Amino acid sequence: MNLEELSAHVAKQFAQMHGRPPRWIVAAPGRVNVIGEHTDYNDGFVLPMAIEYYAVMAADRPPAAHNVITIHSTSDPEPAVIDLSARLQPDKLKWSNYPRGVVAGFLARGLQPGGLEVLLHSTVPLGGGLSSSAALEVCTATLLEAVTGKTLDPVEKALLCQKAEHEFAGVPCGIMDQFTSVMGRQGHLLLLDCRSRKIELVPMRDPSVQLLIANTNVKHELASGQYARRRAQCEAAAAALGVPSLRNATPAALESAKSKMDSVVFRRARHVIGEIERTVQAAAAVRASNWPKVGELMYASHRSLRDDYEVSCAELDALVGIAESIGPNGGVFGCRMTGGGFGGCTVALVKSSAAAAISQQLAADYKQKTGIEATIFGSRPAAGAAIVKS
Ligand code: GLA
Repeated sequence: MNLEELSAHVAKQFAQMHGRPPRWIVAAPGRVNVIGEHTDYNDGFVLPMAIEYYAVMAADRPPAAHNVITIHSTSDPEPAVIDLSARLQPDKLKWSNYPRGVVAGFLARGLQPGGLEVLLHSTVPLGGGLSSSAALEVCTATLLEAVTGKTLDPVEKALLCQKAEHEFAGVPCGIMDQFTSVMGRQGHLLLLDCRSRKIELVPMRDPSVQLLIANTNVKHELASGQYARRRAQCEAAAAALGVPSLRNATPAALESAKSKMDSVVFRRARHVIGEIERTVQAAAAVRASNWPKVGELMYASHRSLRDDYEVSCAELDALVGIAESIGPNGGVFGCRMTGGGFGGCTVALVKSSAAAAISQQLAADYKQKTGIEATIFGSRPAAGAAIVKS
């Protein structure tokens, strides 16, 4: 379903529920990261793109004026109820904390949205490492922009959403996901420098290649605690090296400081420093349409995430292993886990002409190895969040 069809679908559901059409419709995409994993909170580079999967909200004022935002979701019978006259705090209904934190960010800027009835529908797989939470945050922020008539600067908007995730969802994430959902560009990867927060657009329009996303359909629970722990280990490595962040470190400096840090911290830093370099090289290789080189960097990224950063899992390794065994003759250039890890998705760079056959083989071999059905899909690089109707 393209965005237009999806918006019409959500508008229709809203009308069925409320007996009138929505006044506003907004959408924000998920993302897939091609390379540059666990580098954003180290001031490094990332190379993601927005995908054609979205969180969509349809909304209107409630019939009787009251200062409450009620969000019904098509994936949970329990609605999020955000009372604007009370001090906003994290709630036990987990998904409601993403919109709740964004509303708090608007209120903190003196922007009063007023009462709303909202219907949320998301096609971004939940908890699959494709930023379903950032899509929900950015979707909420876009709705509040439409409602208040105040357009935020894109960087400020993304940072407001990141803060919502830190303070209301308790995840100390970097800036990649929210920046991509706000600033995605059709036909382009975003080379985001997380230190300067500047984006360089990298065209990705060669029709002979495409990205294939494969969802392991597993999510290992340790994810969020481990994420915070990795961040702390990176900070420990930077402190031992005497630099503000691992962006400022080189492989040689790390090697010579090896005795000053614990061996686990050393391996974490080795991943980050190598991954920042690989990301810059991959962007250059995409520009040059050097697909074998991009693929080689993707495999190297996966190995580093698996062995040094230890955020992969058996199911992700199984998918990457299958992709590698299909190999260049079968049309696979490279493959790696994408997103935070411990489950979720892999991303593969493949020849478009072989994509259907590769999808079939990935699904069949994965099922055989793990007993689990993978979900496999493609996406072109999509545009960032937008007001569809206002
Ligand atoms: C999650 C976080 C991002 C980033 C990735 C790992 O998606 O939200 O900020 O750190 O993990 O690259």
